Amino acid sequence: ASADIGLIGLAVMGSNLALNIAEKGYTIAVHNRTAAKIDEFVAEAGELRPRIIGKADLKEFVQAIKAPRSIIIMVKAGKPVDDVIEELLPLLDKGDAILECGNSLYTDTQRRFDYLKPKGIGYLGVGVSGGEEGARHGPSIMVGGSKEQWHNAEPVLKAIAAKFNGEPCCAYLGEGGAGHFVKTIHNGIEYADMQMIAEVYGVMRDGLGMNPKQASDVFKEWNKGPLNSYLIEITGYVLEAIDGPTGKPLVELIVDRAGQKGTGRWSAIVAQEMAVPATAIEGAVAARSLSAAKDQRVAAEAIYGKRQAGGADVSLAELEKALLAGKIAAYAQGFAVLAKASEENGWNLPLGTIAKIWRAGCIIRSRFLDQMAATYDKGDNVNLLVAPDFVTIMKDAHPSLRKVVAAGALGEFPLICLSSALSYFDSYRQARGTANLIQGQRDFFGAHGFEIEGRGPGQHGKWPSTLGN
Ligand code: 6PG
Repeated sequence: ASADIGLIGLAVMGSNLALNIAEKGYTIAVHNRTAAKIDEFVAEAGELRPRIIGKADLKEFVQAIKAPRSIIIMVKAGKPVDDVIEELLPLLDKGDAILECGNSLYTDTQRRFDYLKPKGIGYLGVGVSGGEEGARHGPSIMVGGSKEQWHNAEPVLKAIAAKFNGEPCCAYLGEGGAGHFVKTIHNGIEYADMQMIAEVYGVMRDGLGMNPKQASDVFKEWNKGPLNSYLIEITGYVLEAIDGPTGKPLVELIVDRAGQKGTGRWSAIVAQEMAVPATAIEGAVAARSLSAAKDQRVAAEAIYGKRQAGGADVSLAELEKALLAGKIAAYAQGFAVLAKASEENGWNLPLGTIAKIWRAGCIIRSRFLDQMAATYDKGDNVNLLVAPDFVTIMKDAHPSLRKVVAAGALGEFPLICLSSALSYFDSYRQARGTANLIQGQRDFFGAHGFEIEGRGPGQHGKWPSTLGN
């Protein structure tokens, strides 16, 4: 055996990861269900070819890898992963490990980890972010699962990961499904980031009458400031692109119906399951679902008419700050979900390390994450909204978020994510809320009891037994 590592699944992400690994000087064995793909891949590997061993036979593939083996599987999430595991199982030796690198549901990863553990096979659920480019030249890598086998794969994974100031964006985060859980929340935050940017674009387009080129210039400018991030940068490019055949701005021709493969929704679901408010993430998921209901939206616009209101009374500087404030609220929510899940699953997730490995390579990479890493490194696992560095930014920025959300309400443009972020902030920092009334209502119809300061819980009201209606 001469390969340092193996990889199954030569679709786009798998191929790029394999090339990245070979480029870093490791020898890699590759396998794919459709054998033709293997030959094609090896043939196109150019100068990396000597370090790639293509094997159409699964047994030969496994035998080509040095023991204890690390085998990456990069196939479609769901049943295909279980199928590959079953095929591999009889061919593996104790101490070998499977590294599953797709966007898997973390509970599936946990189940596979528990299934393989008694058989002596390590299982690592690995979140890989950064799209095709990232996989090829440096993704952010979130590892969870068997700690022992992590050490076998660690040098390769750290070598292929993105670097931030020389530090690899790759870390072991916890047992079982921890890595895939963190990737899921990364994607939930990604959804919120993208949606808030899209909402701001909506204000520019519908409230300020800007064309895509003008909006593009603004995003490019913002990318030099506190919003500096991959998503802001690509937004500048998407907005300036021109459609070849018509010469029109491409963005104006793209149908306003967004796809989603599940990870964003899983974050919202898990947040609800753990009773952690993640309204910005939920809003972003809901916005994608609403976008997909195009026919209903067209019909409803015919009933209510197009928006009547005029322009938005907001400046670009206010929009920039609104986005920053919204972003802080969304990240506060995402990290709160991570903190709760860590506690519930006994993962001991290192929040500072997570922020660090998100600083480069992944889709949500940004300058802002460096600041967040510094906050969590100080050891305060508090909600970001009360972390001193972010309090300063928030105090300066929330009035702008408020102004933008108000402009959206009056101007009739939907800001589902930004307004959810603002309501979260306002609820979070309100010492006395309105749940006293909820408690009164609950006691009225269900004798659920309430607490009175100084008298303790379990108090009841004397409610009328018959009502007027
Ligand atoms: C990443 C991305 C990547 C992918 C997701 C998002 O971190 O590199 O999140 O994993 O783009 O599949 O998917 P949807 O938008 O299709 O849900």
